[in-house]
Amino acid sequence: MAFPASFLDELTARNPIEDVVGQYVSLTRRGSNLFGLCPFHSEKTPSFSVAPDKGIYYCFGCHKGGGPVNFIMEIENLDYPDAVRFLAKRAGMEVPEDTEYRSTYRKQERLRALSKEAARFFRAQLFSPAGKEAQQYLLRRGVSSQTVARFGLGYAPDGWSSLLDTMQKSGYTKEELLDAGLVLQSKKGGYYDRFRNRLMFPIIDVRGNVIGFGGRVMDDSKPKYLNSPETIIFNKRKNLFALNVAKKSKAGMLILTEGYMDAIALHQYGFDCAVASLGTALTEEHAQLLAKYTQQVVLTYDGDEAGQNATRRAIPMLERAGLQVKILRMKGAKDPDEFLKKNGADAFRALLQKSENQAEYRLQSLKNKYDLHDDAQRVSFLREAAELISTFSTVVERDVYGRRAAEAAGVTPEAMKQEVSNAYRRRIAREKKRQERVDLDLNAQQQPKEKGIHYDNLRSAMAEEQLLAQVLKDPVLLPEVKLLPEQFSSPLLGRAFSLLLRCQQEGRPVSLASLEGDFTPEEMNHLSSVARRRDALISEQAISDCCNVIREAYGRSVRTGEDALRAMQQQFQHKKGYGG
Ligand code: GTP
Ligand code: MN
Repeated sequence: MAFPASFLDELTARNPIEDVVGQYVSLTRRGSNLFGLCPFHSEKTPSFSVAPDKGIYYCFGCHKGGGPVNFIMEIENLDYPDAVRFLAKRAGMEVPEDTEYRSTYRKQERLRALSKEAARFFRAQLFSPAGKEAQQYLLRRGVSSQTVARFGLGYAPDGWSSLLDTMQKSGYTKEELLDAGLVLQSKKGGYYDRFRNRLMFPIIDVRGNVIGFGGRVMDDSKPKYLNSPETIIFNKRKNLFALNVAKKSKAGMLILTEGYMDAIALHQYGFDCAVASLGTALTEEHAQLLAKYTQQVVLTYDGDEAGQNATRRAIPMLERAGLQVKILRMKGAKDPDEFLKKNGADAFRALLQKSENQAEYRLQSLKNKYDLHDDAQRVSFLREAAELISTFSTVVERDVYGRRAAEAAGVTPEAMKQEVSNAYRRRIAREKKRQERVDLDLNAQQQPKEKGIHYDNLRSAMAEEQLLAQVLKDPVLLPEVKLLPEQFSSPLLGRAFSLLLRCQQEGRPVSLASLEGDFTPEEMNHLSSVARRRDALISEQAISDCCNVIREAYGRSVRTGEDALRAMQQQFQHKKGYGG
């Protein structure tokens, strides 16, 4: 990896896992380990553990785990090199930058500085004579000067090279402006400004860097919005507009909107917890980002079909990130901006209080789907509603929503209750059958939970996991493992084993934390779960048993491979015989 091993070892040593994690999570000691509430998923009883002796953390609930660098990557939303820099700074260490990282990092720093300066230029233009029309536009849309200042709004003038010229005078090159997505190149090779005669919304990340822009036309021309392309500093899947401001909110929730103008209007009307996606559909990364700052998200997507579809898609994603989701429905306005202008902040606050949890929302959507005056449709509605309600986990919910559905369809609550309990029984029977299939399929259970990691030979892989868990618990056992890394059936576990061997040869600590830079976060999550296997027995006998299982499986796979090879050769000769 790019940082020298000795530096990384010192980094790990000077950032004890319990101290690093302890700055974010309140931990209580239980035996040799510490426990706390997992910062990566919402939970009420602690399943998040820190093992100071192994230098790792692991959550038994969401299966995230790793060393201090992985922890910082997750919690601070940083990539590997930046997480290393973060920890180095924390421990007061110098970072020996390798040239490749140095150049990428420098380039990013340069683009961040460039973007900030571009934002300043746009802002200055807004207040210059050239920005008169843009100012009037903002006035017309009721955006206050305070809001303009808070979000650093600006104006991109109508020339072809206003920004290009200014930035070049400041010492930035055309190529850099191209890399930042602020200029474009024509077919003939000339450079020109991407944003012309547009109102500019700088997009600022949670650490306060300007990373991109959205630009809106001020009339009806198309496209209405133009956004910066993806660049080395701008990733739309991982950033949200206004989160830099909203993350400081005390509201205890985040309001998610579709449009920049919606988020901005909400802030102006006192809802300082509003954020907007960047003209793209919500991603898993967005959901996880949101979950770092809140436990509750209120969706305020547009009422049109596209908005409703987006809502339906967003709900499970947000729930997977451990967020509580509520849906706010607006009547008589297409988006929050319009609603606020029409009805004011109090009306919106009332909607917010009334905003439906997802149970209500789904029942309501079902009601809208059917014409309840039509008998046949009413029956279909009841059946589907009963299916839905039977999935609710508490008796109270089933009762409340059952009554509501009954009322909507004009049947007695008792009849509805019967329908729900039938649906419940059918569903339990279905689930039981499925569970039985899963139970039978041991394979499915023992396969790694992380996406993209799969064991081809489970029996061998289980022995390999055992081995790794044992040597991580007690590294003096490492020489007892008389195997070659190639003999491991799982390439991932084999790689971990060979790197641990190398650590030992080089006199570095034999621990997962030493390997952080060599694995992706997903691989590290899985390896941490392996290291935290509670069933790892430590004994030389156990080690040699595991080795035997692995060797046997390897022998068989080699034989199978040889058989296959022989069969292929025979077939080949066979063909040759006929052909010749
Ligand atoms: P206003 O008309 O200014 O109120 O816009 P809005 O904030 O209500 O946005 P709208 O609901 O029309 O669109 C939601 C979001 O989708 C915008 O904030 C943009 O991020 C994105 N968007 C809208 N129109 C375009 C477009 O023409 N091109 C691109 N790339 N994105 C767009
Ligand atoms: Mn709008």
